[in-house]
Amino acid sequence: MRTRCHAWTGRSLVVAGALAVAGYAAPVAAQEADRPERPAAQLYHAYCSLCHGERGDGRSRAQASLVPPTRDFTAPGAALDLTRERMIAAVREGCPGTAMAAWGTQLSLAEIEAVVDYIREHFMRPVAGQAAATDAC
Ligand code: HEC
Repeated sequence: MRTRCHAWTGRSLVVAGALAVAGYAAPVAAQEADRPERPAAQLYHAYCSLCHGERGDGRSRAQASLVPPTRDFTAPGAALDLTRERMIAAVREGCPGTAMAAWGTQLSLAEIEAVVDYIREHFMRPVAGQAAATDAC
C-alpha cells in the first residue's frame, strides 16, 4: 500500500474541519479551469503560506492549530525526503489525515509544478551527493 505524506491519523481531520470553517483551508474557486496560469510566487503566497509560512519554514499563524503541524521545508535534509514528484503528488492529491487539501481541481498541473518548484528553489536546501528518496507521500 502506498503511504502518503506522513502516516497521520485521527485528530487532525477535526482540526482540518475547524480550519475550513475558519476559512483557512483554502480554495473555494473550482471554476477556474479557463483562466491563465498564475505566477508561482503569487500562488504560494495566496494559497500555501497561510499554513507553510512566508518562508516555507512552517511558521505560520495556522501552525499551532495544525495536527500534524506543517513541516519545515528549509530544514537540512528536507529535500532528501521530499522529491519533486512526491511534492507534486501531495499538492494534487492532498495528504489524508492532515490539513493538506488536494489542490488538483483548484490549480492546473502546470501551476502545481510551478509552485512546487518555487518552494524547492526558494526554501529548500539542495541535497549534495546523496540519492533522493523516491517514495510518494
Ligand atoms: C490548511 C493548511 C495548509 C495549506 C493551505 C497548504 N498546506 Fe501543504 N500541508 C499542510 C499540512 C498540515 C501538511 C502535512 C505536514 C507536512 O508535511 O508539512 C502539508 C504537507 C505538504 C507537503 C508535503 C507532503 C509530504 O509528502 O510530506 C507539501 C509539498 C505541501 N504541503 C505543499 C503545499 C502547497 C504547494 C500548498 C499551496 C498550494 C499547500 N501545501 C497548502 C497544510 C497546508
